Amino acid sequence: MTVCGMFMFVVMLGVYAEYTHTDVCSTLTVSHDSLLVEYGEPVKVNCSISSKPSSHFFLGWESQFNASQTDSETSLVWRAPSLTEWEVNRREMFCYLSVPNTEQCKRKVRLNLYKRPDSVKISSESIVWSEGQMMKLKCEIENVGPLQNLNVQWTRVDQNNNTTVTEMPYGSFRAFGEECGNVTSTLTVSASHDEDEVQYQCAGLLKLEQLQQLQVGSSEPLKLTVHYKPTITQLSSGTISLTQGDELVLNCSAHGNPSPQYFWNLPGNKNLTTSFIFINSVKSDDQGQYICTAYNDEGSDSVTVVVNVAVDYKLIIIAVCAAVAMVLLAKLFCICCRQAHTGNYILKNLTSHRHDAIIALSHMDQL
Ligand SMILES: *[C@@H]1O[C@H](CO)[C@@H](O)[C@H](O)[C@H]1NC(C)=O
Ligand SMILES: *[C@@H]1O[C@H](CO)[C@@H](O)[C@H](O)[C@H]1NC(C)=O
Ligand SMILES: *[C@@H]1O[C@H](CO)[C@@H](O)[C@H](O)[C@H]1NC(C)=O
Ligand SMILES: *[C@@H]1O[C@H](CO)[C@@H](O)[C@H](O)[C@H]1NC(C)=O
Ligand SMILES: *[C@@H]1O[C@H](CO)[C@@H](O)[C@H](O)[C@H]1NC(C)=O
Ligand SMILES: *[C@@H]1O[C@H](CO)[C@@H](O)[C@H](O)[C@H]1NC(C)=O
Ligand SMILES: *[C@@H]1O[C@H](CO)[C@@H](O)[C@H](O)[C@H]1NC(C)=O
Repeated sequence: MTVCGMFMFVVMLGVYAEYTHTDVCSTLTVSHDSLLVEYGEPVKVNCSISSKPSSHFFLGWESQFNASQTDSETSLVWRAPSLTEWEVNRREMFCYLSVPNTEQCKRKVRLNLYKRPDSVKISSESIVWSEGQMMKLKCEIENVGPLQNLNVQWTRVDQNNNTTVTEMPYGSFRAFGEECGNVTSTLTVSASHDEDEVQYQCAGLLKLEQLQQLQVGSSEPLKLTVHYKPTITQLSSGTISLTQGDELVLNCSAHGNPSPQYFWNLPGNKNLTTSFIFINSVKSDDQGQYICTAYNDEGSDSVTVVVNVAVDYKLIIIAVCAAVAMVLLAKLFCICCRQAHTGNYILKNLTSHRHDAIIALSHMDQL
């Protein structure tokens, strides 16, 4: 407690001393205490006091460049017609007021010089990649600074316009130069079909005190192409059971780059080079394996569909019923005939009955 109390007392004494001193110093102001300056641009910082102190005084600028002092004016401007000195970022700079018998008072000014790059280029060893390869994208930023505040920003925009931003901090890329220089950053991406038609862009991002961050130049967008083998998406392997006379529809559709070509192997060793199969009315010899192959330069994918064709028993039953009905009708017709004529024909008619039956049977065989 006593140590703490002592400390408080000392601090309060200090504040009091400062307060009396600020009577003289409070009027000392600078037009900017922090300034972001683009390379080659002019800078002016005005330092002033409200009125001349009663005693002799000095108002001056302490700086590595263009330091100046006055003992008669109430304002003094520090100027650089075209600032190109990177040292301003490291050196302290301040305006001071000196009055005899008081401590010199100061106003610090923080200057931050930055430079936009002369160029930002994105490149890739190849524009067309194969699935599984490691794509190396290079970003070259020329003549940018301050290097130690630079991040390289990679922007990826996919087919759905989804945007992903990756930032590489200073140290993760190669930089040539002290304050200002050239930067080479490499992004490695595994080529997958998700990377097809994806657009990459790189930019320099300066993280400076005065602003959260400042984008200083961006490359042109670079669109990549990834070739990948087809995957059949529309059709799946399995068994299809049909009945004679049904229709058969098989649509084989695959994703792949370049666009896949199709090949169907049908029962009876027949081949088709379409993606689509349509049979209006299946017969028993349409039964068997249907193999679709989708292929391109990168590879192929196959799907096997087994088609079973069952005989239609309903049709047979109808046919048999129809035949039986015909036989009965014929019989009825003959009985009527017999009654109308004499009994001489009996033997002949019996043989004709047998003939009818044979006709009905052979008709059934055809089914
Ligand atoms: C500097 O500031 C003082 C006080 O505000 C003002 O009178 C003076 O004109 C300024 N000088 C310049 C060059 O802006
Ligand atoms: C200092 O001022 C002079 C004259 O205005 C100018 O030519 C020179 O470039 C300045 N120095 C710096 C570092 O800007
Ligand atoms: C993506 O954005 C661009 C421009 O911002 C637009 O022209 C395009 O239609 C968009 N595409 C999709 C799939 O939203
Ligand atoms: C794109 O973004 C939307 C919304 O952020 C998300 O729902 C979707 O899954 C994303 N698509 C891809 C392919 O990442
Ligand atoms: C940056 O690259 C340019 C052009 O290639 C070159 O003229 C310059 O000397 C390089 N600067 C550094 C610091 O390497
Ligand atoms: C086959 O399926 C694909 C993908 O769903 C579709 O684009 C195409 O039109 C279909 N083909 C036929 C002939 O229906
Ligand atoms: C169909 O393709 C298979 C496999 O490629 C081949 O063995 C067969 O000879 C081809 N059949 C005909 C009729 O071209």
